[in-house]
Amino acid sequence: MSSALFSPINLGGVEFANRIVVSPMCQYSAVDGCATDWHISHLGMLSASGAGLVVVEATHVERYGRITHGCMGIYSDECEAALKRVVDFCRRVGTAKLGIQLAHAGRKASSQRPWQGGGPLKPDEDPWPTIGPTALPFGPGWHVPRAMTADDMALVRGDFITAAQRAVRIGFDAIELHLAHGYLAHSFMSAISNTRTDEYGGSADNCMRFPREIAVAVRKVVPQGIALGARITGSDWIEGALAPADAVFCAKTLKAAGLDYADVSSGGISPEARNPNTPGYNVPIAEQVRSTGIATRTVGLIMTAKHAEAIVAEGKADMVAMARAILDDPHWGWHAARALGADVKRPNQYLRSGPALWPGAAAPAEAAPRVNR
Ligand SMILES: Cc1cc2nc3c(=O)[nH]c(=O)nc-3n(C[C@H](O)[C@H](O)[C@H](O)COP(=O)(O)O)c2cc1C
Repeated sequence: MSSALFSPINLGGVEFANRIVVSPMCQYSAVDGCATDWHISHLGMLSASGAGLVVVEATHVERYGRITHGCMGIYSDECEAALKRVVDFCRRVGTAKLGIQLAHAGRKASSQRPWQGGGPLKPDEDPWPTIGPTALPFGPGWHVPRAMTADDMALVRGDFITAAQRAVRIGFDAIELHLAHGYLAHSFMSAISNTRTDEYGGSADNCMRFPREIAVAVRKVVPQGIALGARITGSDWIEGALAPADAVFCAKTLKAAGLDYADVSSGGISPEARNPNTPGYNVPIAEQVRSTGIATRTVGLIMTAKHAEAIVAEGKADMVAMARAILDDPHWGWHAARALGADVKRPNQYLRSGPALWPGAAAPAEAAPRVNR
């Protein structure tokens, strides 16, 4: 049986062994933006999950662009060296290609870690000033961001360029821009958070201007041989705000800017927005985005091998990402391969745990005499 999920895909000159992606997941465990031993353990584990690509969590292009005090950054030489240590480690122990998500949290910055409440930092918690397209807070009680000037935008564009250059130096296989989940770039795109009357607000084209400028600037410093993509918003899940047609427009814009793929996620622009809780809730939007001709990934309650296989086999997306299911089962890719009768690369040290071990499989040629070693 041949599996669509386990077929290779080439993006921007990079060959990924299969279509399974570990979605970026904040760990809130960095120190002044620098990766720690937690990241060695977490990303080392996931790089041996069977996924073709592991994307490192939202990694912020400036210190004030972090969501929390524990968020990862790529704004200093120390951050770069700490990330390189993790990437080098993952290359030694894992099988996946490695990507990084570059982000700026905008008006959702200066927050508590989820397990500390997840709200805005209180005055005695060392909060910092935030920025956004308009001086509108994320929700009641949240920090009021300063409306960005042209100079602020130039600085942030520059931060994205420098961050991408650092990511290239570190040796990532893929770089993706975080244009979703209510963070800075998304907050420019949505009417919920952008009420500007200049060329950065109003029409869909104007609202896309700042994210497009970032994409164009980053494209110039990311060479062929590293896949460049973006996570985009499929829907704000709020009446009158961003909808699938806007995601299609966004994808067309990014394709024209030379990006290699779009990853369709959704939600996060306001505390009132509620994502659906049905399996694969972003898949129908991804299918529309894919019709633009850009390679498309999607995410959101994709839990089983059968579902992931169907999404790719039926041409609804080119890749699927998972977050919570793969934290729960860090060998998700191995188990999916077994379920689908496909091959997946395992580290040599774990080869004997392969499909031949399981009931119904032909006995492994060398299993019996060597099993006690
Ligand atoms: C612990 C955790 C941290 C997350 N951090 C990020 C992040 O850094 N960047 C991002 O784009 N999405 C982040 N997300 C969202 C996931 O990448 C994913 O889009 C979402 O959880 C839906 O996928 P799932 O149903 O497979 O969990 C995070 C999710 C979780 C559970």
